[in-house]
Amino acid sequence: MKTQGLKPSSENIAYSADVIAKGGLVVFPTETVYGLGANGLDPIAIEKIYQAKGRPPDNPMIFHISSPLDLEFLAQVITRDMEALIVAFWPGPLTLVVRKSSAVPFVATGGLTTVAVRMPDHEVALELIEKAQCPVVAPSANLSGRPSPTRYQDVWEDMDGLVDVILEGDDCQVGIESTVVDMTVPEKITVLRPGAVSVEEIKGALESYGIKDTQVIWDQEKPDVQKNPDNQESPHNQESPKSPGMKYKHYAPKGEMVIVQGERQKVKDKIESLKLEAEGQKNDQGNIKKVAVLFLEDIAPKEAAYQLFARLRELDRQGVDLILAASIIKEEEDGGMGHAVMNRMLKAAGHRLIKV
Ligand code: TXA
Ligand code: MG
Repeated sequence: MKTQGLKPSSENIAYSADVIAKGGLVVFPTETVYGLGANGLDPIAIEKIYQAKGRPPDNPMIFHISSPLDLEFLAQVITRDMEALIVAFWPGPLTLVVRKSSAVPFVATGGLTTVAVRMPDHEVALELIEKAQCPVVAPSANLSGRPSPTRYQDVWEDMDGLVDVILEGDDCQVGIESTVVDMTVPEKITVLRPGAVSVEEIKGALESYGIKDTQVIWDQEKPDVQKNPDNQESPHNQESPKSPGMKYKHYAPKGEMVIVQGERQKVKDKIESLKLEAEGQKNDQGNIKKVAVLFLEDIAPKEAAYQLFARLRELDRQGVDLILAASIIKEEEDGGMGHAVMNRMLKAAGHRLIKV
């Protein structure tokens, strides 16, 4: 397949919308990461996404809509809790997992009776969805297991020849994927994937909407990946997690990554000694190991989120064998963007964490 790269002019967005409506694949920018989109009501088109990404068939997808009203078509019921979060955060980086209507094909939900939905905060994405006149399913536009693309140049690296169109928009402003929350249990909201919208902000939104009895909890992942980082292929012998995507190895750079956590000076010293040690070794090709240090610690978590995936991909292009990264959060901090970034870093590192 020949992939077309198009600047997101109004004309090109209309053309891309038509490609989606006819069953094709279009990569488009959102505020979080680039998405690989298809018509969410067309099972054959959805199947093409799994193929292009090499995505396990039980990993469900997020439906992207251009108006909150479109949720009525996809969801069985809309609760007051959902209303409160929609009012506060849509358009924006929050995905709601709700009971699905019969309009939603099972192939998009990996067989689940729930569906994940969000309204992205990006003009190009909204115009594309509106013009396609269908909900657009879109996982992140990376090959399965690779860091999510936040720059269109990174999309080309993974998707050339696999999709019909790449809409070459700006760099994604948030830089990590949306917060995913489970809304299917009455009066209990569970954060399945941390992101830019924090637990505290969700609690605040409920309060502003006059809701007092709903609990918000942060599902401390019980990561199968931690025990078995490379077990991507055999998900079925594992306990079924609530958000199926969370059990797979994710965001992995080609080089090995290790995170060092602790008091600042100790972290610096440890990284320095690991670097010296590794640079004396050879890689699999018999060359001196190339080591890079990733110090996101000195910048605000928001900026770290913006940079993380792009930096990992840059290090890959440089052929780095070992990435030594300083932890972004301190043990006692909770729930916000720092945690969301750390969640991605831990997965990128296959949970290799050294505490000093
Ligand atoms: O920011 C984002 O969410 C980006 C942009 C493109 O919108 N999309 C994205 O999609 O990150 P993806 O497919 O890479 O991640 C979707 C996550 C996975 O962890 C998946 O398991 C979870 O959402 N998910 C989807 N449907 C679900 C459902 N019905 N129940 C529980 N988790 C679900
Ligand atoms: Mg993804």
